Amino acid sequence: MALVTTTEMFKKAYDGGYAVGAFNVNNMEIVQGITEACAELNSPVILQVSKGARAYANHTYLVKLVEAAVIENPHIPIALHLDHGPDFETCKSCIDGGFTSVMIDASSKPFEENIEITKKVVEYAHAHGVVVEAELGTLAGIEDEVKVAAGDASYTHPEEVEEFVTRTGCDSLAIAIGTSHGAYKFKPGTKPQLRFDVLEECSKRLPGFPIVLHGSSSVPQEFVDTINKYGGAMPGAIGVPEDQLRHAAELSVCKINIDSDIRLAITATIRQYFAEHPADFDPRQYLKPARAAVKAMVAHKIVDVLGSNDKI
Ligand code: G3H
Ligand code: 13P
Ligand code: ZN
Repeated sequence: MALVTTTEMFKKAYDGGYAVGAFNVNNMEIVQGITEACAELNSPVILQVSKGARAYANHTYLVKLVEAAVIENPHIPIALHLDHGPDFETCKSCIDGGFTSVMIDASSKPFEENIEITKKVVEYAHAHGVVVEAELGTLAGIEDEVKVAAGDASYTHPEEVEEFVTRTGCDSLAIAIGTSHGAYKFKPGTKPQLRFDVLEECSKRLPGFPIVLHGSSSVPQEFVDTINKYGGAMPGAIGVPEDQLRHAAELSVCKINIDSDIRLAITATIRQYFAEHPADFDPRQYLKPARAAVKAMVAHKIVDVLGSNDKI
């Protein structure tokens, strides 16, 4: 199977009451860990690349790594998606350069400007067989080099979604319901709670339309504990409870974005490895267990959170 768009994936996910995982990729081990888990569990997957990932690893390397994963795992649908495209030019470069899906994130712009930029990307993308994710509402945290303070974040206004989708022609919509990017999503001592009322209001106005959740790492405490035990300093790192993500997947959420949990799995594994094997210096020695940790984490998400196993 060649790279696919998300159209078919989202239709099946919406109808089946599950979500497809969108995992950020930055190097070979991450691509391999994610896709090995998906292949074993017969799960569709979205591999997403941020502006920062392109700056780090280079567009061509990332596309070729994902193409290699497609060749190695021909039985699963894999989409290659631009995460948080900041402008038309970046989206165009990814559309021209082999991506099957792009996100235009003009969510920090006023409503009319967001519509105008999104519409322009949709016109170009659709003319080239590529689908478009857009965003309404802003998440707190770091959105690809743009840091949004908690006070400046805002939930999506459900009364705006129908007009936005109709006027832009976007294929999926990311909404803000209380998630945020990074490993510090909620204040320690408070009860994390997503705004399911906002999600349901948005879905009611967009029947059958795929909703996307960003900032959906659950920050597993075993990773945080391991990092802190072996020399790290991540006090108070808290993510989205997995049962709330599972609930969102049963509703209209068809794409759940996970990046921080990959970073945590790798960092926890490598910190522990270095502490226990101080004489080792071959990167393969510690990248191999790090890749296995990514695979195990993704497998857990697929089965226990997303519900995307055996859906190809
Ligand atoms: O939304 C942010 C993603 O986690 C990507 O992060 O811009 O550091 O690659 P990045
Ligand atoms: P996390 O930081 O929660 O993993 O979110 C990732 C994300 O939304 C990428 O777009
Ligand atoms: Zn995001």
